[in-house]
Amino acid sequence: MTSNLDYMRGVKSLRDIDVSGKRVLIRVDFNVPVDAHNNITDDRRIRSALPTINYCIDHNACSITLVSHFGRPKGQYEEKYSLKHIRKRLERLLQKKVEFVEDFEASKDEIATCSLERVFLLENIRFYEGEKQNDPALSKKLASICDVYVNDAFGASHRQHASTYGVTEYVETKVAGFLMMREIEAFSKALQEPVRPIALVVGGAKISSKITLLKAVLQKIDKLIIGGAMSNTFLKALGYDMQASLYEEAYIETARDVLEMARQNSVKIYLPVDIVITDSIEAPVDVKVVPAQDVLAGFKAVDIGPATVKLFGEAIGLSNTIIWNGPMGIYEVDKFSKGTFKIANIIADSYAYTIVGGGDTADAVDRASEAENFSFISTGGGASLELLEGKILPGFSNLDRNLDTID
Ligand code: 3PG
Repeated sequence: MTSNLDYMRGVKSLRDIDVSGKRVLIRVDFNVPVDAHNNITDDRRIRSALPTINYCIDHNACSITLVSHFGRPKGQYEEKYSLKHIRKRLERLLQKKVEFVEDFEASKDEIATCSLERVFLLENIRFYEGEKQNDPALSKKLASICDVYVNDAFGASHRQHASTYGVTEYVETKVAGFLMMREIEAFSKALQEPVRPIALVVGGAKISSKITLLKAVLQKIDKLIIGGAMSNTFLKALGYDMQASLYEEAYIETARDVLEMARQNSVKIYLPVDIVITDSIEAPVDVKVVPAQDVLAGFKAVDIGPATVKLFGEAIGLSNTIIWNGPMGIYEVDKFSKGTFKIANIIADSYAYTIVGGGDTADAVDRASEAENFSFISTGGGASLELLEGKILPGFSNLDRNLDTID
């Protein structure tokens, strides 16, 4: 169905090059979900990077430097976004010492000293203003600390930033890591000759970045099932008073466009018919299930209700390929987790090819003890939606290619 996937499958992987004696820079996505005390609630993204890191260690790389973002800091240091909170977990999983580097330029010589098995973790690259601007100066600096660049940050591969894209302009050898290749294989299986109908289930709170993608995705799917904070903006677009619920005023018009385009493309849309509302998320006293039209004054929507679970369940049950991206409510809070967990159970029980994408949604599937029952758990949320849209992701677009795949 999509040639973007063929293109991305044609990039060179780590297995196609020799890393021995080389300084390897690996872009990983360690943007893991954490609780209020900075405890990692799901380390899948770290675990998923281990095959690539271990391969470099086993194949005698001179040094291995890991670069990642964490959260959305504004181009400067913020303690809560420091990657130093991740280092310990990485060391435990890797069973190796990891050296934390606050200023990679100052540590350039250290990184260049060939000492087998040395692993460095750089401080959050989004503390540099140039990262999100794809600034050539920052890209060059990153390139100067390596001989080989490996992109294994599938979750961030839809971002055209200095560490995911710009750096490739200045490094001679640039390839994909094993996670990137595994993700592309799984999506190719789901999307290249999809067994229809295809249902996309979306939710979550990253409304502005996902809602615009939905327009493009509509041409590729048969059903769009919308829950979570994302659905509040759609319900608002239908004229419902969502009271204190989280929704994006600026995207109500986009929601209307999505509804109209879905009609034109004969894509069926499913929205919540009932929702769980509360007077407070932190200290809920009053929690009720109400019809979606009847949110009480001052209340917030925090989960989908039982009638919605049934409605969504029936639509999911009739689909043969299901892609799930974004929770149905504030699943981290027990009282508001039912809708998300029930949807996890329903998708897991279906006979469809099932993919779940994104840090939070994968975490929710784990908490619902359903991880084993999905065909594939992707580490990419926004990235997987852009794949579905038919894009060649920037994180792949400038990597070396296998000669027989160049057209
Ligand atoms: C994600 O969590 O989806 C990725 O790490 C990308 O993060 P971003 O949306 O802040 O770029």
